[in-house]
Amino acid sequence: METKRREALRMAGVPFSDIRVIFERATYLEKEGVPIIHMELGRPDFDTPPHVKIAAEGALEQGLVHYTSNYGLFELRQAVALKLQRDNGLNYDPDGEIAVTVGVSEAIFSVMSAFLDQGDEVIVPGPSWLNYLRIPAMMGAQVVPLPLPAKDGFQLEPEMLEKAITPLTKMLVLISPHNPTGAVLQKKTLESVAALVQQHDILVISDEIYEKIIYDGQAHVSIAALPGMKERTFLLNGFSKAYSMTGWRLGYVATDRELMGPLIRVHQYVTTCATSFAQAGAIQALNGPQDCVAQMVAAFQRRRNLVVSALNRMPGVACHVPQGAFYAFADISAFGLSGQELALYLLEEAGVAVVPGEAFGDHGRGYLRISYANSYDKLSEGLERMGRALARLSPTGRAWQR
Ligand SMILES: Cc1ncc(COP(=O)(O)O)c(C=O)c1O
Repeated sequence: METKRREALRMAGVPFSDIRVIFERATYLEKEGVPIIHMELGRPDFDTPPHVKIAAEGALEQGLVHYTSNYGLFELRQAVALKLQRDNGLNYDPDGEIAVTVGVSEAIFSVMSAFLDQGDEVIVPGPSWLNYLRIPAMMGAQVVPLPLPAKDGFQLEPEMLEKAITPLTKMLVLISPHNPTGAVLQKKTLESVAALVQQHDILVISDEIYEKIIYDGQAHVSIAALPGMKERTFLLNGFSKAYSMTGWRLGYVATDRELMGPLIRVHQYVTTCATSFAQAGAIQALNGPQDCVAQMVAAFQRRRNLVVSALNRMPGVACHVPQGAFYAFADISAFGLSGQELALYLLEEAGVAVVPGEAFGDHGRGYLRISYANSYDKLSEGLERMGRALARLSPTGRAWQR
């Protein structure tokens, strides 16, 4: 008999992440005393810069403990407007075009619930950070994957985008730098994308959370800065990655005033506002010295070089050079095992935690995501262990399965 305890039917399209299996096993092994090297985490390993913490502490002491405006503290919105002007050449009015959210995660939820109807199609580049595959499903919308070809470092191809567009396409998701591939969208590509979305009247979510974590002199370009794009783009950015503030849960949306209306109504009913004193810290993150960001990025770049060259020396592993974020996305298809099987093998045999590529959708099959948000020394040891364990596993072999 049908019970009312059953979940909403929409939730059938929202399974737990494949990452969970790895997390749970890693936690269990750690409890048993096995020293695990974490190369699965999607968060910087640094502390939040001291001037940011001091500002939040001060705010708490001064009694900034009440609800803020639904849009967030005006001073923080002003700091965001200034940042968007300075870094991205964008003009947003802090009064009505910028809202502070509970991380970019909440911004995605609020934008999608405000704009997606049952049956709408959302084009999501694949592989993709999982939220973009699951949140549309929560709204009853359809995810249309846009495969990112591995051959060119997972660059989005506008011709493939054009083929994926249908009359039902309501929204396109862009992530640059990209999780899990580390690809950075080039201005030329963005110009072609902008022409297509304008032609077909499609809204764009531009997730720029890894904006600052970019290497080799690459420039971050926001699609919102291209002509005609502010009117149809939700620019999402935040503090988690650039300032190592994942636990603070702060992000923001910048968009056209008219698009802000529905989105702020969702945000209002879901969260009221982001945490007040955390917002005081975020003001300092944006307005204060930025050398902390440069130092983190320099450390990430050094680690990236270590990780990618070590991976490419392992027989059976091939890894392109990521140009942003802090993940290496390595092709392990030569081993003839799924990402999940290989990730579990590495956990059991080498004490190294990594994420199976299929956790990022079907287009991640045959890959592992290796995060280099861990110290250089730990990464060196983890890679050594990984190399030794893979060497015992002949490419194409299932030798380890007992
Ligand atoms: C592409 C992308 N967007 C957003 C987030 C989450 O950001 P926040 O901590 O601001 O919710 C992540 C976290 O890994 C991410 O990879």
